[in-house]
Order: sequence, then C-alpha cells, then structure tokens
Amino acid sequence: MFRFYDHVIQPVVEALAPKRVIEVGVQYGDQTAKLLEQVDKTGGVVHAVDPLPEFDVAEWEAKWGATLVFHRALSLAVLSEVHGLDLALLDGDHNYYTVTNELRVIEETAAADGVAPPVIVLHDVDFPYGRRDLYYDPENIPAEHRQPYLQLGIDFTTGDLHPDGINNHLTHAVDHDTPRNGVRTGIEDYLASSAVQWNQTWIPGFHGLGILTPVQTLERSPALRQVIEGFSQPAFMDRWTRHLEASRVGELGHTVQRQVADLKAEHNAKLESLTAQINELETLRQALLDAEARAATLPELQLAVSDAQRQIRDEHAAAEHAREDARQTRAELIDTRGQLVALMASPSWRVTKPLRLAKRLAKRI
Ligand SMILES: C[S@@+](CC[C@H](N)C(=O)[O-])C[C@H]1O[C@@H](n2cnc3c(N)ncnc32)[C@H](O)[C@@H]1O
Repeated sequence: MFRFYDHVIQPVVEALAPKRVIEVGVQYGDQTAKLLEQVDKTGGVVHAVDPLPEFDVAEWEAKWGATLVFHRALSLAVLSEVHGLDLALLDGDHNYYTVTNELRVIEETAAADGVAPPVIVLHDVDFPYGRRDLYYDPENIPAEHRQPYLQLGIDFTTGDLHPDGINNHLTHAVDHDTPRNGVRTGIEDYLASSAVQWNQTWIPGFHGLGILTPVQTLERSPALRQVIEGFSQPAFMDRWTRHLEASRVGELGHTVQRQVADLKAEHNAKLESLTAQINELETLRQALLDAEARAATLPELQLAVSDAQRQIRDEHAAAEHAREDARQTRAELIDTRGQLVALMASPSWRVTKPLRLAKRLAKRI
C-alpha cells in the first residue's frame, strides 16, 4: 500500500488531520514511517497491527513514544479494542473472511460508540487478490470460511496457480472469481449488508486501492470531499498514470540491473571455475613433464643395474674361491699337526731329549 502514500493517502491524512489511525499489516513499516511522520505533526496516534512485523518494534516505540501504539496481533483481535478511529488502512491478510470481518468490526465498534466509522482504505482490491483469497496462515481462518488452498504462486498471464508465479511462498485459494473469494468480493458483500452509507472510490494500479468514506463524513468535511472527489478527476488520473509509468519503468530498470548483476555473478563463477580447471591442467602438465624426464633416464638406470648385478656375481665367485682355499689350508694344517704329534711321540725324539737340553745350555753359556 505504501506506493499509494504520496499521491493518495497523504492528501487524505492532510484533509482528515486524524486523531487516531489504525494500520493493519505493516511488514517493513514503509508506510508506517510516512504515516507517523505526518500524524505526529497534528498530535495524532497511529495504532500499527501486525503479528509478524519485519523491523525492530522496540526501536520504533522508543523513537515515536506515544505517537505509536504497536499491536503484535491479528487485526480481528485488535479492531474492536481501538475506539474513535478517523482512518483505517487495511493491508493485512488478503482474504474474504478477514476483510469482511475487519469491515464489520470497524462498523460495529463505531456504531456502539455512536460515532461515524472511519475512512477505510483497503489494498489489493484488484489482481491477484481482488477475486482470490490469500492466507498468510490458513490456520487463522475458521475451516468453514476457507477456500481449498495450496502453497503455490500465481501466474500473471493466466491467473492460474503455478510454482514459479508471484508470491509462491504464500498460500492461495485454488479457485478464483468464485463466491466468498477475494478482497474485492469481500468489500462488495460487506457494502451490500452495511448500515452505513458509503462513498466508494477505486484507484487502479499496484494491485488496486479501495477507499470507503462514510457519506456523512464527506458532508461534514469539504476538504476531505475535495480530496476524495479529486481522485476521479482527469488531473489526478494524469498524475497517477505518470506515477504508475515512472514506477513501471523504474522497476523495469531494477529488473534489468538485477538481471545484469545475476549474469555478472554467473559469469564470474564460470570464470573462477575455468581458472581452477586451467590451474589443475597446468599441474597435470607439469607432472607429465616430470614423468617424461624420469622415463628418459631409464636406459641409463638399466645399464647401471646390469653393471651392479655383474659385479655382485664376480664378488660372489671370488668369495667361493676364498672359501675353497681356506678349506684346503685347514686340511693341510690338520695333517701337519698329526705328523708333529707322531714325531714327538717317537722313541728317537725322547732319546735325543738330553742332547737338546745340553745344546740349549751350551747356547746360554
Ligand atoms: C502486504 S504486507 C503489508 C505491507 C504494508 N502495508 C506496506 O504498505 O508496506 C502484509 C502484512 O500483513 C501482515 N498480516 C497478515 N495477516 C494479518 C492479520 N490478520 N492482521 C494483521 N496483519 C496481518 C503480514 O504479517 C504482513 O506483514
């Protein structure tokens, strides 16, 4: 809804100078920030409602003080608690059950207080949720009020559910353009049963915006009447069409930029992978060159091996010879020793013993 702010919601807020505003469905707070800025100037209060806000609520509460009242809850648990509303911005759960009940509760709360209901602004009154329910959490909707649903995106061209369609992370009614299905259908059915006389304004683009203004409020406020009636004038349509076109071209530019960035990232990843492959090939080439160099020295090595084998054989034969010589010398020694023993045991050796003694004595003298 925030894309309607500057051209649509800002002038409504200016004309209303609201004391109390409720914003259902804040998400990143893009619209809440603008709203707080504007409402704060006239001393108003913004009630923001979202079960799953995607910003730091405590930080915002500290910044905005009494101007911001945050409700981390579902809209239907809060709407009957906030009284004296001048403006309600509904952009939460885009389905028939939620929208019809939000509108009903707002009307009943105002009626119980004896005041006119607020100006109500609703987003997503056209494709894709005008005639098809979206369920942020199907369990929040009583089973008997839910359409058969699937978690699939919506194809922009055919309007059918498709895995690659928009918002494919969300849960959507399988059918569309059936009774009790979608935001616009919910508004129409509510209007048919409402006790209030409503002025209806529908603004196309950005999935469509509906503005319901109590006729009695319009009658009381010429400034508001001028703003609301202005939305049907050619001057506004001209400004609005230009705004839509600028956004379309801007988004196209962003899409192209995103695609270029994606292509660059893809190209860089490929380049990185190719560089890694080239490095790997270079390592393999080096290994091949090393292997070839080693293979070239193989004949030389074979020659050295045969030389060494021959040398071993020669040394083996020489050792064999030496062993044989040693065996012979030992046999000869044993033989000589035997002869010596026999000689010393002979009678002539013993008879000549005194002579050998005398000879040794004479030698000494
Ligand atoms: C489309 S986003 C709102 C965008 C916001 N209005 C803007 O213009 O920037 C819808 C938000 O509604 C919230 N939401 C879903 N169901 C809700 C409910 N029943 N009551 C209040 N908020 C709800 C979701 O958590 C989500 O953050």
